[in-house]
Amino acid sequence: MNFTDLARRRYSVRKYSDKPIEREKLNRILAAGMLAPTAKNQQPQKIYVVQSKENIDKLAQLTHCGYGSPTVLIFAYDLNEDWKNPLENGVRSGIEDVSIVATHIMLAAAEEGIATCWCNYFSNTRLEKAFNLPANIKTVLIMPIGYAAEEVKAAPTHLISKDMEDVIKFL
Ligand SMILES: Cc1cc2nc3c(=O)[nH]c(=O)nc-3n(C[C@H](O)[C@H](O)[C@H](O)COP(=O)(O)O)c2cc1C
Repeated sequence: MNFTDLARRRYSVRKYSDKPIEREKLNRILAAGMLAPTAKNQQPQKIYVVQSKENIDKLAQLTHCGYGSPTVLIFAYDLNEDWKNPLENGVRSGIEDVSIVATHIMLAAAEEGIATCWCNYFSNTRLEKAFNLPANIKTVLIMPIGYAAEEVKAAPTHLISKDMEDVIKFL
């Protein structure tokens, strides 16, 4: 499958089967995240794989965005490890770095026929507290990852995009 076909085929899945993703498949997908570029190659990302019933339940208390998946990834970065732009006060790379890693993982999953959904609708502070993450770890998104429930289809809006002219300006 070429890249455009893969990008077209991926869509957000909001209902998952109980069948857990196989460990080998998950490892392959996570390894694709390790190929992602990060600012100055500092690799500040941290990925927490949530699978125990206790922790899946804990996550469900905080957000509906696990969508019933037996595996949910929490993507974060280490404030001590991301690149800080010396030319612009307060500009740092953590969120960008994590987003590229998560995108690699989302597309690698799609290539394996594995569903995902990028989610940021949760309280980062409450999530970090609930999982006892150190103060230097900042969460960015969570991502259920696994087999889509049988009846799931892409949302009707999946391939609807703005006109290219509204988005892309040649300067
Ligand atoms: C930064 C970001 C945040 C998102 N947050 C959520 C979310 O909290 N909950 C959710 O169900 N979907 C979330 N989504 C999924 C988008 O709604 C979805 O990607 C978009 O509607 C396009 O649909 P598609 O992924 O099926 O093509 C998020 C996507 C992105 C990129």
